[in-house]
Amino acid sequence: MAKKVILDVDTGSDDAIAILAALASPELEVVAICTVAGNKSIDKTTENTLRVLDLFGSNVPVFRGCKEPLTKDLTPSRWESSPRKTLIIDGEEIQIHDDYLSLPPSKRQAETMSAVEFYLKEVPKISEPVTIIAVGPLTNLGVALTIDAEALCQNVAEIYIMGGGVSITNYSPSAEFNIWFDPEAAQKVVNCGVPTIWVPLDATHEAYVTSAHTARLREGSNPWCEFAANTIDQRIMVHDALQPLAEPNAGTVHDALAVCAAIKLDVLTNCFERHLSIGIGGAADGQTIVDPRVYPLEPNCKFALGADRNLFAEWLLSALMR
Ligand code: RIB
Ligand code: CA
Repeated sequence: MAKKVILDVDTGSDDAIAILAALASPELEVVAICTVAGNKSIDKTTENTLRVLDLFGSNVPVFRGCKEPLTKDLTPSRWESSPRKTLIIDGEEIQIHDDYLSLPPSKRQAETMSAVEFYLKEVPKISEPVTIIAVGPLTNLGVALTIDAEALCQNVAEIYIMGGGVSITNYSPSAEFNIWFDPEAAQKVVNCGVPTIWVPLDATHEAYVTSAHTARLREGSNPWCEFAANTIDQRIMVHDALQPLAEPNAGTVHDALAVCAAIKLDVLTNCFERHLSIGIGGAADGQTIVDPRVYPLEPNCKFALGADRNLFAEWLLSALMR
């Protein structure tokens, strides 16, 4: 029986791969996709999500979510991020996330119901407990929990979260982007009582794919294989230039690892019950603070600090080329 899942995305490049892999996996039934502002504005992340669904030929409903974090933008100083290095080739900036995915504009619209309304009104009606795979800022869930935590949590079995980082960060010295973007929402999710499985940068940076994988992917006959290979190759180019991994010609596909974990939890390594709290404000804004002490605080989540790269890469290719 396929696991019913809801994807919560800020589509961007790795979100797009995650969506394709989830749709292509028989172990999952994607019942809905909720969009959120993060990598790009809510308009762009929603349009990009619709474009990916058109590419796959899926009519999974898309629910447009929050356009800004819970409270962070009320304090402008919290938005100051580290100076960003850029990759310029032939006078053009090569980004890890383009504003719009290189796909035809979608002819579809998102549903009229908002993502938060969907979480509160429709999720409780689903015939069995659902799994949420959240791979962007957690604002939608943070708002839904603020309005009616019981309504949301009563029919949610578990939440997989791509976010955070302990020995690896990316958007600031202390934080990974998704959690940095909305720390308060992340803390609400940690507190909500639904089992959460965290897939941080410590895991996603181990589970990189290489240009040898994208070369294999190009041989796939599915109409999305070339797009996926091009998308990952662009990520590899930016990683090689600005965020090198353990070997050259390698790139992360953060969000797809969270999807893989929802199917094969053993893709995550060093994944244990841990106590997690979220830094809010100051230098630790958005930090995922995992209690490292021998006698830590009561565990409140599963938090992986590694991943099986070969298992992930072979799963990803088999899903996209199925
Ligand atoms: O830090 C990586 C995460 O931030 C990924 O989910 C990426 O898509 C961005 O949302
Ligand atoms: Ca994302």
